[in-house]
Amino acid sequence: MELKNSETIINLARSFAGEAQAGLRYQFLATLLENQGYFTASKKVKVIAKNETKHAKVFFDHIVKAGGSENIEFTAGFPYTGSTIEDMFSLAIKNEKEEAFNIYPEFAKIAEREGFKEISASFKKIAKVEENHLNSFNYLLNCFNEDSLYKASKPTTFICSECGYTETLLNAWDVCPLCGATQGYCNLLLP
Ligand SMILES: [Fe+2]
Ligand SMILES: [Fe+2]
Repeated sequence: MELKNSETIINLARSFAGEAQAGLRYQFLATLLENQGYFTASKKVKVIAKNETKHAKVFFDHIVKAGGSENIEFTAGFPYTGSTIEDMFSLAIKNEKEEAFNIYPEFAKIAEREGFKEISASFKKIAKVEENHLNSFNYLLNCFNEDSLYKASKPTTFICSECGYTETLLNAWDVCPLCGATQGYCNLLLP
């Protein structure tokens, strides 16, 4: 089967659009975090945003490699919500979960059935990354809900991302004892 006549080309185009939007939405979230002083959390979200942009590129390249297309038409819905950090984390969790466990595994199966092994493998690999994103967003939302982003259950080494100061504590400092950077610059205790 040629890619241009397949269901897989539509799935690639839809996935490209979804990933491109996720990348942009996470940039909005990173800015929101930064504006509220959560600098290391913002940095983490920026890395995830970049991951999504790369996923978009992987899907885009599969289409281009097969000869490209002037226009691929499809119908899809996309979310337009998220005014707070918590809202945006919740939306990210919902989307990452769908991609990791429903959408991409299904698209991988269809690609396999249509004979596009390499494309199927990309969907599977990206699904695994989305599962990692899901875990990160779950962790972050939980920290925000419990106000525990800079609290640990046992003595833990916090690092100031600005000056490198370290100290083993239960709660990170309000301002870094060495350089005065705010708590938002402390390293995240990501699992
Ligand atoms: Fe992605
Ligand atoms: Fe993701």
